[in-house]
Amino acid sequence: MTSLFPDDPLASTLAHIPVLATEVLDALAPAPGRVIVDGTLGGAGHTRLLLEAGASVIGIDRDPYALARARAAALPGLTAVEGNYRDLAALLERLGVQQVDGVLLDIGVSSFQLDDAGRGFSYHADAPLDMRMSQAGPSAADVVNTLPEEELAAIIYEYGEDRHSRRIARAIVQAREQAPIETTAALAAVVKRAYPGFSPGIHPARRTFQALRIHVNDELGALREGLAAAEGVLAPGGRLAVISFHSLEDRIVKRFLRGSATLEALTKRPVEASAEEQARNPRARSAKLRAARKLAPEELSGREVRS
Ligand SMILES: C[S@@+](CC[C@H](N)C(=O)[O-])C[C@H]1O[C@@H](n2cnc3c(N)ncnc32)[C@H](O)[C@@H]1O
Repeated sequence: MTSLFPDDPLASTLAHIPVLATEVLDALAPAPGRVIVDGTLGGAGHTRLLLEAGASVIGIDRDPYALARARAAALPGLTAVEGNYRDLAALLERLGVQQVDGVLLDIGVSSFQLDDAGRGFSYHADAPLDMRMSQAGPSAADVVNTLPEEELAAIIYEYGEDRHSRRIARAIVQAREQAPIETTAALAAVVKRAYPGFSPGIHPARRTFQALRIHVNDELGALREGLAAAEGVLAPGGRLAVISFHSLEDRIVKRFLRGSATLEALTKRPVEASAEEQARNPRARSAKLRAARKLAPEELSGREVRS
C-alpha cells in the first residue's frame, strides 16, 4: 500500500507495526465521512491505515510522549488528544462530538514504550523502576517498596499468572528491608534469585514485570470502563474492535460483549494473527481481536442478552 504520508519525517521513529492490521480494517470499515476513535494511538500505526482509508481519526493516548510524537507528525485528519480511553465520553464531549462510527482499542504497551529504556517497563535495560504510561500516580518502585507482601503476591499471581508469586513477593519484601528497590535491574535480580529454576528463553522476571505494569496503569479497570464508554458513544451501526494480549483482558472483552444489550459480536471466536504475521512480528503472537457492531434501536427488540 502506498503511504499517504511518504514524507513524514517521524515515520521511522514512530514506527509501531500495527497488529492484525487487515483484520482491524475489516472490522472497523473506515471510509470517507466516518469518524473513528483510536483509543490507544501509540505509534499511530493503526491510525495511519484508518486515515489512508479516508476516515477521520480522534486519537487518544495517556502517554504524553506518544501524543507529542503523533502531534509532531501532523497527520491530516487526525485529532490527537491526551487522556485515558476510560474517559472516552468526557474526552469526546470536550471536542463537541456525541457519536462516532468506530472505536479501536489496541491495549497494552507500545514497542516504543518498551524500547525506551528510561521508562522502566523492561528488564532488558537498567532504568528507574517507573512503568507509568501517563507519568502520573504511583510508580512501580512505589508499589514494590510499599505494598504489603500479600498484596504483591496477589498482583503477581493474578496479573502475571506466576505460580511462584508468594516466593517472589517474600523476596521483594526481604530485599526492600535492606534497601529500597529503585531500578529495573534491582527488581529483576531479586526475582531471579527467588525463582526456582529456569524456563529456557523466558526471563524469570517477565511475569512479575507484566503484573506490575498492569497494576501500575490499572489496565484492566481502564478496559472495563473503556468498553462501556465505547458502547455509549458508538452510533447505530458503529463498530468496536479490541485487540488484547493477555487472557485476562480477552476474558473481560468476551464477557462484556456477551452481556451487552446493544452490541452484536462480529467475531464468535477471537481472531488471531496469521502464521506469516506472527513470524514477521513476534508481538502479534498473543494478539486476539474481538469486534462488534452497535445495533440500531429497531434491531434491539426481542434480543436475548447472555450474562
Ligand atoms: C499497543 S500500543 C498501541 C499501538 C497502536 N495501535 C499502533 O499501531 O501504533 C498501546 C498504546 O495505548 C496507550 N494506552 C494504554 N492504555 C491506555 C489507556 N487506558 N488510555 C489511553 N491510552 C492508553 C499506551 O500508552 C500505548 O501508547
